[in-house]
Amino acid sequence: MQTPIRKLISLNTFDKFNCKVMSVLMIGLLLLYMSSASAVESLRVLNWWSSTSEHAAVDVIAARLLRENIDWDEVLIPNGSGVAAMIVLKSRVIAGEAPEVAQLNGPIIGDWASMGLLQNLDAVAEDGQWDKLLFPAIYSWIRPHGHVVVAPLGIHRVNTLFYNTKIFDRFKLELPQNWDEFVHIATLLQQAGIPALAQSSEPWQVSTLFESLVLSESGAPFYMDIFVNKDPKAYADARFAEALQRLRTLKKWMVKPIREQNWTEATRQFANGEVAMLVMGDWAKGELNAWGLVTDTDFGCTTVPGTGNYHLFDIDTLAMFVSKNSHLSAQQKLAGIAVSTKVQSDYNEIKGSIPVLRTPDFSIMDSCSRASWTTFSRGASVQVPSFSHRMATDETSRDTIIKELHQFFMNDVMSVEEEQHRFVLIANILRKSK
Ligand code: BGC
Repeated sequence: MQTPIRKLISLNTFDKFNCKVMSVLMIGLLLLYMSSASAVESLRVLNWWSSTSEHAAVDVIAARLLRENIDWDEVLIPNGSGVAAMIVLKSRVIAGEAPEVAQLNGPIIGDWASMGLLQNLDAVAEDGQWDKLLFPAIYSWIRPHGHVVVAPLGIHRVNTLFYNTKIFDRFKLELPQNWDEFVHIATLLQQAGIPALAQSSEPWQVSTLFESLVLSESGAPFYMDIFVNKDPKAYADARFAEALQRLRTLKKWMVKPIREQNWTEATRQFANGEVAMLVMGDWAKGELNAWGLVTDTDFGCTTVPGTGNYHLFDIDTLAMFVSKNSHLSAQQKLAGIAVSTKVQSDYNEIKGSIPVLRTPDFSIMDSCSRASWTTFSRGASVQVPSFSHRMATDETSRDTIIKELHQFFMNDVMSVEEEQHRFVLIANILRKSK
C-alpha cells in the first residue's frame, strides 16, 4: 500500500531553529498536518490481487491515486479467481459495511447495479469519452443496464498455453496445434523425464483448464450453450463427453501428485523448468515477468490447441459501491485514473493483461499481449466469456458446475458417461431455477 501523504512530513527540520521560531513553526506544521490529514481521503478497495505482479500492478493505480490525495486502502481477500472475496463482499454489504470499491468481474456487476448499490459513473465516462476510447465489447460490459457502473482495468486471455522455450529448443519441438501434436510432445518429454503440464487440483484451476477444452472440442456456439445457456441438450452432446474425456486424459501428463496448490505455485513449477507447459490466464505472464523471466527468451505463449481463433476473455473492473459517507468524488477520480492511457499501459504491462483501449500504446507490448490484443480486436465472433472467471454466468451456476467438475477430476472411478448424466441433471435444475 502507498504511504499516505500525511506521513511524509518530516520533523527533523525543527533542529535548525530556536525555540520561539520552533513554536511558531510547530503551530504552522500542526495546521499543515491537520489540513493535509483532512485532505487525504481513503477508499477501501476489496480485491483478490495478492501475488507479486498483482501487487505491483495495483501499486501503479495507488500511486497515481495518491497524487489526488486519495489513499488506496487495501482490503485484500487472497484466493485466486476471487471465490473468497465475493463471499466477504456479500457479507460486508449485508452488514452495511460495503467497501467503497471492489474488484468485480462479469454479470454480477449487473446484479449489484440493479440493487442500486453501485455508483453511476456516466459523468466520468462522458468526460473521458469512453464510448470512443474503449473496445465496444468493454463499453457494453460496463453498462449492464445502460449506465456505466464500473471502471474497466484490463482484459486477460484465459486460453493461454505457456511453454518453456529452452525445453522446446532442446528437444526441437514445434508448438502443438492440435491434441495429437500435444500428446506427441508430452510422450517425448515423458521419456526424457519431464512432465508436460503443471496443474493444480484447486477447483477453479481445474475449471480454467476445462473451459479451454470445451472451446477446443467444439467452438464458441457450443461453449456458449454449455456455460452461458446451460442447455441440457448441450451437456448430453458427444462433444461435452469428449471434453470430459480430454480432461481425464490430460491428467496423464501432469506433475504427480496433482496437488491443490495456489496458481502461483503451479506457475513457479513452470518457471523453475520442472514442467514444459502451463495452461493459465495471462496473469501468469505478469507473474513470470515479475520473477525476472523474459517473454520469448525464457518462455513463450501460444493458445491451448484448437482455440487459437478465440479470445477466452476475463475483464477486470473496479466497481464503486454507494456508501454511507459519500465518496463519490474520490470514486469518480479513481474511475478516471483507471482508464487513463498511462495507467492503462503501465498497469496492464505488469498485470499480464491488455488495455481496454482501442488504440493502446503498442510499443511496450510484448508478443503475448500483441497476439491477445489482435485477436480480441477482431470483435464479437471471437470473443468468448470465461466461465471460471465469472464472465459467463451467475455465481450459483458457476459454483455448482465447478464443484461437480472438480469431483470428476478427483475421482478416476467415475465414468465419463455417468458424469455426463449428472451434468445433464444439473443443467436441468439450473435452468429451472433461473
Ligand atoms: C482475475 C485476475 C487475477 C486472477 C488470479 C482472475 O479471476 O481476473 O485479475 O489475476 O484471477 O487471481
